Amino acid sequence: MSPIGIFDSGYGGLSVFRSIVDRLPAYDYIYLGDNARAPYGSRSFETIYEYTLECVQWLFAQGCPLVILACNTASAKALRSIQQRDLPKIAPGNRVLGVIRPTTEIIGRYTKNKKVGILGTTGTVTSGSYPIEIRHFFPGIKVYQQACPLWVPFVEEQAWQNDDIDPFIERDLKALFQQEAEIDTVLLACTHYPLLANRIRKFLPDGVTLVSQGGLVSQSLAGYLERHPEISRRVTTDQQRRFFTTDAPEDFEEHASYFFGEAVKAEKAVL
Ligand code: DGL
Repeated sequence: MSPIGIFDSGYGGLSVFRSIVDRLPAYDYIYLGDNARAPYGSRSFETIYEYTLECVQWLFAQGCPLVILACNTASAKALRSIQQRDLPKIAPGNRVLGVIRPTTEIIGRYTKNKKVGILGTTGTVTSGSYPIEIRHFFPGIKVYQQACPLWVPFVEEQAWQNDDIDPFIERDLKALFQQEAEIDTVLLACTHYPLLANRIRKFLPDGVTLVSQGGLVSQSLAGYLERHPEISRRVTTDQQRRFFTTDAPEDFEEHASYFFGEAVKAEKAVL
């Protein structure tokens, strides 16, 4: 088996993985969730980088020629260093891709007035990766960011059905729109947030477009595999999907279906 590796700090990446599997069902995949050390969102740059690199190396050791960091925080804080500094040394023929570029290269199609809001973890927001990347592709777009540090714990605790979280969601959205009332496009720049989409919509001004990343990432990956036969040729196509977690597999199995939309069998990863 020479699968595509999908990495996240925990469960959130499963929402991206769902879109990838739906779009590209033929390939083999291994998902790794670093649940034992999640959430990554408020950790330091060094720690996120160190953990992410360790997980990427584990996925390489399982035979993955291509790894997708299906985590905004890891993409923002670790991807560039891994691509530029580590990959040439540890596995020059392998590739690691993130979720920020597939989103930022297309966000211009959603906004009419060129005012975009980004919701993410503290790590993603403080990295400045979204404003930098969006400026690169669409210099005319103005980007406003808001960190929502409570939202990942809400989702981890499966509280998306719980009305008690509404005031916290409303507060963070208010803080975003206080920066610029005319934002017309809001991007969920965190893999957990799509599970809160219905609640978030309640507090968005009329006419604002809410964008989730899964479809954008899977579309971009399909294009990448087409443009890079030297990589896609190396991925096996027996439709196998294996799920690994650094924490208890039973816990992973219990939570995973909310994010992946179907029951999964999990195995323990020893890094
Ligand atoms: N998967 C992370 C992201 O997309 C959120 C979870 C975490 O903070 O570890 O930013």
